Amino acid sequence: MTDAVATAGRSLDVAAIKQQFPLLQREINGKPLIYLDSANTSQKPQVVIDAMTQFMQHSYAPINRSAYTLAAEADDAYEGARSKVQRFINARRAHEIVFTKNATEGLNLVTHAWGRANLHPGDVVVLTHMEHHANIVPWHMLSAPIEQGGRGIVLRWVPLTADGQLDLTTLPQLLDGAKVFSFTAMSNVLGTITPVQQLCAAAHAAGALAIVDGCQYVPHNVTDVQAWGADFMAFSSHKMCGPSGVGVLWGREDLLDAMPPFLGGGNMIADVRLDGFTCAELPAKFEAGTPPITEVVGMGAAVDFLTGLGMANVRHHEIEVATYALRTLTERFGADIQLHGPCNTEVRGATFSIGFRGIHPHDLSQVLDQRNVCVRAGHHCAKPLMRLLGVSATARASFYVYNDTHDVDVLADALDGASDIFGF
Ligand code: ALA
Repeated sequence: MTDAVATAGRSLDVAAIKQQFPLLQREINGKPLIYLDSANTSQKPQVVIDAMTQFMQHSYAPINRSAYTLAAEADDAYEGARSKVQRFINARRAHEIVFTKNATEGLNLVTHAWGRANLHPGDVVVLTHMEHHANIVPWHMLSAPIEQGGRGIVLRWVPLTADGQLDLTTLPQLLDGAKVFSFTAMSNVLGTITPVQQLCAAAHAAGALAIVDGCQYVPHNVTDVQAWGADFMAFSSHKMCGPSGVGVLWGREDLLDAMPPFLGGGNMIADVRLDGFTCAELPAKFEAGTPPITEVVGMGAAVDFLTGLGMANVRHHEIEVATYALRTLTERFGADIQLHGPCNTEVRGATFSIGFRGIHPHDLSQVLDQRNVCVRAGHHCAKPLMRLLGVSATARASFYVYNDTHDVDVLADALDGASDIFGF
């Protein structure tokens, strides 16, 4: 298989990109920061910071509620960001973009609004062993019996291959009779990129909806929800150079139209009477209360920033970094390093969960921190996957547009330094 997107891309000028991130100019104890935790949250370029500051200084006002000029300006900025996001993921209509708090809220919106209205006791939902808790726990909540507030649904799980890809050999049987197939497009632990289009087609062939957790994928790849043939997809702004506090649920218009609202309150109603209410049209129906207005504007600026880099180039760059990291770390440490996930960079991003010489990941991350190398240690909100891997935690290094092969070398040197400290 060739990665057509990456082939179309070209290398990024990382030095020039890094210059645009004020925080990455910081030094701690006289040494530069090597930020390798972007799967957790990404750093912010000056253009995003400026867009938010400018908006707050010049155009901040309520949206959707007031007729004065300032409010109209704020409304235009907010809806302008929605259109940017629509184009970024190639959604058919802007009102299919619902702004949420984050990807977790987007997935909860689907499970609780669509799920509670459409799922019944015994209905099957298929998940995978590589899901983040955000795509597990809401479904567990629906697994509870009706009398305990759930819907009595039954979960089935797609297993993994030894190299951390989805094992699709039994997918037709798992999907047989299923109502939903909900899966990640890219694992936050393994870096694995899943065959989203194929999985959506398999779901539909079985009569199931295809729900995609795009939280890790969207910041790193060209996203086209129409080409995928997906039904819902959730992602967050803060992992794609935008601010925290805002995310997106994209859904097919007919599905969003047909399902009940999630949260009730201001902005989401057409009318309220003593005996009930009627809903506003999309997308307001799912945006109750005052939204994160400035953050949405910041997310729009992040979309512009990434579009300027070119998402095919971003993917191309990550393959270059991932290839270099795989080669460097295995050549330097051999059997002493465990890199979970695929070795084939066509099906992985530049996110590496590492086991190293039996050193506990928390200890490892603290020692790496002495050299300003920032990695995440823990279960990465994927405890079922950790159990499958036979570990309680990993140290995770995740690279983005401002990281290059030099950062891989610094990581490798810091790992060597950890060996010295722990006496290996
Ligand atoms: N889901 C985020 C991560 O993997 C928080 O670090």
